[in-house]
Amino acid sequence: MGSNKSLLMLPGDGIGPEVMGQVRCVIDWFGDRRSVGFDIKEGLVGGCAYEAHGVAVTDEVVDDAMNADAVLLGAVGGPQWDNLDFSLKPERGLLRLRKDLDLFANLRPAICFDALVDASSLKPEVVRGLDILIVRELTGGVYFGEPRGIENLPDGTRRGVNTQVYTSPEIERVAKVAFELAGKRSGKVCSAEKANVMESGILWREEVQKVHDAEFPNIELSHMYADNCAMQLVRAPKQFDVIVTDNLFGDMLSDEAAMLTGSLGMLPSASLGAADATGRRKALYEPVHGSAPDIAGEGVANPIASLLSFAMALRYSFDLSDDADLIENAIKNVLEGGLRTADIMQTGKTRVSTIVMGEAIISELDKLAA
Ligand code: IPM
Ligand code: MG
Repeated sequence: MGSNKSLLMLPGDGIGPEVMGQVRCVIDWFGDRRSVGFDIKEGLVGGCAYEAHGVAVTDEVVDDAMNADAVLLGAVGGPQWDNLDFSLKPERGLLRLRKDLDLFANLRPAICFDALVDASSLKPEVVRGLDILIVRELTGGVYFGEPRGIENLPDGTRRGVNTQVYTSPEIERVAKVAFELAGKRSGKVCSAEKANVMESGILWREEVQKVHDAEFPNIELSHMYADNCAMQLVRAPKQFDVIVTDNLFGDMLSDEAAMLTGSLGMLPSASLGAADATGRRKALYEPVHGSAPDIAGEGVANPIASLLSFAMALRYSFDLSDDADLIENAIKNVLEGGLRTADIMQTGKTRVSTIVMGEAIISELDKLAA
């Protein structure tokens, strides 16, 4: 014990606190059983932060996030905040954290567990063994581009504006992350943009190709229009290994990829900044699913995406691959044993609550570590 690894936990809104409660139990298990201890701080982000402080995230929480070795986030948002001014909406808290910590590389793995092959809406042979990684640019593009806004025109109509903008360094740094990760996988990268209609897409394609030719000639690089990529993902997803794409296309393609695996409730993510002199990166880990207000508070949410996000934190921020493997194997075994939360329920399986799923994963950890 006594390590000084620091974690900031931001459960957020909706099902966030429920799924993060299970992460907390697994963290405690690692402290007790594996002597992997963390200094944990908690904070508010999203609608709950707005209720308490009138903003979606306070400067203090942003500072805590800057100083933590890793941030674990649940989810933000809910219908009760839909009519707030845009600058106060829960999502602004998450977007500010991504931007202020400069977390430009968002890793979204989509892995189909064998036990869940039939939970996918696609045919089993299309998804069996699926293991792809979407690398989404996270701090640029139309999410942050200026000018932006809604204006009233003299003729009484209105005009809404957002700007899709990328610079070459922004493209280069995320492309490098994708190539490096592909080097540790099957060595294939597909870059997705809309170079047929957008100048920013032409730049994207050219810069990705340049990084490839200069530094990663051994990686197999292909380029695809993002709409075609969306289609190919449901037609033959196993043709892909790493997909690198911009902020908005990455948002959409990663939801689509999530569903290939059976449920949005299964997909973790890591958002990473640039490596400092010691190789350390600022990092935020969160499930890809949102706050799911329709089931919040019912105790039925799937905690697996959050637990897999914690496993990613162990792997990428703390270099604890064996411990990350342990969580992933425990989850795999529990799914093989037939337990299912509502989102991945199949006939003949046993439907369980968030807490029972978390407890089953911990008993499996006990067995694996025995
Ligand atoms: C995601 C979410 C966010 C996004 C929202 C909550 C701001 O959809 O992380 O994919 O659009 O990036
Ligand atoms: Mg999204």
